[in-house]
Amino acid sequence: MTQVIIALDIDSIKRQEELLKALHGTIVWYKVGLQLFTAHGKRAVDNVLRQGGKVFLDLKLHDIPQTVAHAVREAQKLGVDAVSLHLMGGADMLRAAAEVMPRPKLWGVTVLTSLGPKDVTIFSASAKIPSLVKSLAKLGWVGGADATICSPQEVGLLKKTFPHLDMKFVTPGIRPAGAALNDQRRVMTPGEAARLGIDFVVIGRPITHAADPRKAALDILAEMKAAAPQSLDKG
Ligand code: C5P
Repeated sequence: MTQVIIALDIDSIKRQEELLKALHGTIVWYKVGLQLFTAHGKRAVDNVLRQGGKVFLDLKLHDIPQTVAHAVREAQKLGVDAVSLHLMGGADMLRAAAEVMPRPKLWGVTVLTSLGPKDVTIFSASAKIPSLVKSLAKLGWVGGADATICSPQEVGLLKKTFPHLDMKFVTPGIRPAGAALNDQRRVMTPGEAARLGIDFVVIGRPITHAADPRKAALDILAEMKAAAPQSLDKG
């Protein structure tokens, strides 16, 4: 089942409240990321929870194991449903985070979609994005991450590489056909993502910058339902 997460990449709590009101009853999941959380902290999380929504706290944690484990414990106290961490933080960091109980779901970032082939050569001259993504996704699976965050273009490769693992996928880079790409490069349509069985799609500007965000969200849900009637769950 594919679920939509609205990326609230905004700095204004007033705008957040407007969007939550406009989208009430359509989408359940909201991403509170670095910008909104740095600006408004717990209040931004509480606004979503108060209307029965679920929060993906996208802080991309990456630090020593103990520090990340403490942050995961605090995220649990906030009441969020999922928090992200960089799988490049390593196996010990992931293990420390996964051992926190109770805790939110841990979603592991593989390689940021903003990085290109040249960027990853800082790790080794022969480093390639697809093989890094595969290694990090495997590390996440073994270490207890609940889902893999990657480009939608990489989901097919990971499903093919690990056919026996019930890996869950969270992907940004979703654009309805004909919509502005903004700074996204390798995109997929909502329908394609639903057909591919991606578990969570994180969609921001096509909805939050639309003249009518509610209509934009409903159109995306309809496109996904038409593409994969059995695979859509708005909650
Ligand atoms: O582009 P859109 O507004 O739909 O962004 C949704 C999410 O995609 C953002 O919150 C960000 O985490 C991610 N993103 C990305 N690569 C970009 C731009 C945004 O992965 N180039």
